[in-house]
Amino acid sequence: MNGHNGKNGSHNSVSLNGTSPSRSTTSGEQTSPETDKLEQDELGVIVRGSLTEGLEMRLAEGRSVEELRVGKFVVVEGEQNQFFAMLNDVRLDATSSGVLLSPPRRNELLSRAVLSGTSTFGTVSLRPMLMVPAGSDANDPDSLLPVKTIPPHFSPVYEATREDVSRVFGDESQPKFFNVGTPLDMDTPVCLNLDRWIERSNAIFGKSGTGKTFLTRLCICGVIKADKAVHLIFDMHSEYGWQGTTEEAGRSSVRGLKQYFRERVQIFTLDRASSTRRGVRPDHEVKIPYSQITVEDIMLLQRELNLNATAVETCYLLVSRFGEKKWLEQFLQMDAEDIKEFVGENNAHSGALAALQRKLKVLVASCKDFLLPSIPGDDDAVQHILATLQSGRNVVLEFGKNDQPMQYMLVVNILTRRLHDIYRTLVEKAMGSESAKPRPLVIAIEEAHKFLSPQLADQTIFGTIAREMRKYNVTLLIIDQRPSGIDDEVLSQVGTKICCLLDDEKDIEAVLNGVSGANSLRSVLASLETKQQALIFGHAVPMPVVVRTRSYDDDAFKFAMMDGKPMQEDETSEALRARLERDRDLDFA
Ligand SMILES: Nc1ncnc2c1ncn2[C@@H]1O[C@H](COP(=O)(O)OP(=O)(O)OP(=O)(O)O)[C@@H](O)[C@H]1O
Ligand SMILES: [Mg+2]
Repeated sequence: MNGHNGKNGSHNSVSLNGTSPSRSTTSGEQTSPETDKLEQDELGVIVRGSLTEGLEMRLAEGRSVEELRVGKFVVVEGEQNQFFAMLNDVRLDATSSGVLLSPPRRNELLSRAVLSGTSTFGTVSLRPMLMVPAGSDANDPDSLLPVKTIPPHFSPVYEATREDVSRVFGDESQPKFFNVGTPLDMDTPVCLNLDRWIERSNAIFGKSGTGKTFLTRLCICGVIKADKAVHLIFDMHSEYGWQGTTEEAGRSSVRGLKQYFRERVQIFTLDRASSTRRGVRPDHEVKIPYSQITVEDIMLLQRELNLNATAVETCYLLVSRFGEKKWLEQFLQMDAEDIKEFVGENNAHSGALAALQRKLKVLVASCKDFLLPSIPGDDDAVQHILATLQSGRNVVLEFGKNDQPMQYMLVVNILTRRLHDIYRTLVEKAMGSESAKPRPLVIAIEEAHKFLSPQLADQTIFGTIAREMRKYNVTLLIIDQRPSGIDDEVLSQVGTKICCLLDDEKDIEAVLNGVSGANSLRSVLASLETKQQALIFGHAVPMPVVVRTRSYDDDAFKFAMMDGKPMQEDETSEALRARLERDRDLDFA
């Protein structure tokens, strides 16, 4: 059933009363070729353990502690169950302290060899994550059970096999499973269950440069290819649409989503000139009228605009005086006389009102490229985005030079709030009649802590979406390097977390808060490599696992995304850029 062909029958006769067992029970026995093979595969045997603290494995003779990496995926063969476990610590031990008091010298190779594995040995901590009853059907996902017991003394531990990995993480030949990487020291794919992935909001964390953006593109490619949801990607640094940058030697760029999925990805922009310069032909330019700015948007920018506590109340007074659609436009036009009159009528504070007006003028000036008093022809960007999403296409919104926090937060908040409102109406209508629900929408936001900090999370639309789970078919894909800046409750609602290296204690604490077995995952998280390694845990994987992230945009990835079909290299970025520039010159001629 498991590919190790290793049942531990020969170990059962061993007494369980020893706390420091002498080496292998089989070593003194006659060995058959079969047991030799078992011994070769065996990493060690279980010598201690508890359900709460995890298991301790004594390393087999001849095995070096240096072979074992934290995060490794191993299998423990119990008598009635097989346990899938993760390695979370490695330690050096000795049967008596005497050996350690007079260690052999460097050149005493023989005595070192004699002691090694007998008097001195390695102990490895393992955290069992799942168990499978012996004899259960390998294709039955229900046979993967939470760990409710532990294996007996001297149960052998093996490296996981290909079959073990695909039994636990699914087989990528099924469309709902998407390969995101391989376990440490193995080349078998670890898959996300995409049906479960889109059921909740998810997060990708890691310090700068660890591969968050690459992982995000990878996961989004998986979902688009399997057509499980549509995405709205707020692309602050223009890395998702046509192409992104890479630090890989000998290469400066990688393909963006549109190069893979063409018509199924539409690029919207706030800065057409920047898109054109980069050789991107945007499908739509986004403009937002003043009438769409609400008090909630201003509240979100409290820090960026340096507003005091009464500013929000003043905004509400303005809304009640001028109405939701007109308050900003009217307020910005008020002169000193108007302000005086308003203060008299509404019992407001004139200094506060003047200060607020000054700050909102700064806001609209800094957003003048896309924020207009009114839009000719009432061209509503939200309706365009909605229509695109509902036709099953994905939207990447490029910010170009408008990537300052204030601009990014304002646009992301306005668009998300309105889309969520529309989705809510559509889902409610669908519940009332038999009309179809809107397609599941995933909203990807980088720098998510800006919207989900403890101060903001219960007031902004993002906190609402995270808490609602998938009630209205909208979920978030949170990308951030400072998870400790995100509200705890929001973090606890995140379904699947993919964490690259984090070394700040507060960040590690935040990510693992409320996760069972957090202690054992802490060391795993802190010992990931600086790039292209991640710990994945939560709703879309049956157990936590450390992966070497799948390479994004190499030939194998391209082949997989295109189903083996050649890519339509129709117009290169350079050719497109040259043509767009020619078109622009003609416009000016
Ligand atoms: N899956 C991957 N495939 C190929 N290269 C990768 C992968 N993950 C990371 N890299 C390499 O690591 C570099 C950094 O990755 P990335 O830009 O995703 O980091 P980041 O975490 O988003 O950083 P920042 O916080 O600064 O945005 C990439 O330029 C690329 O060279
Ligand atoms: Mg990034």
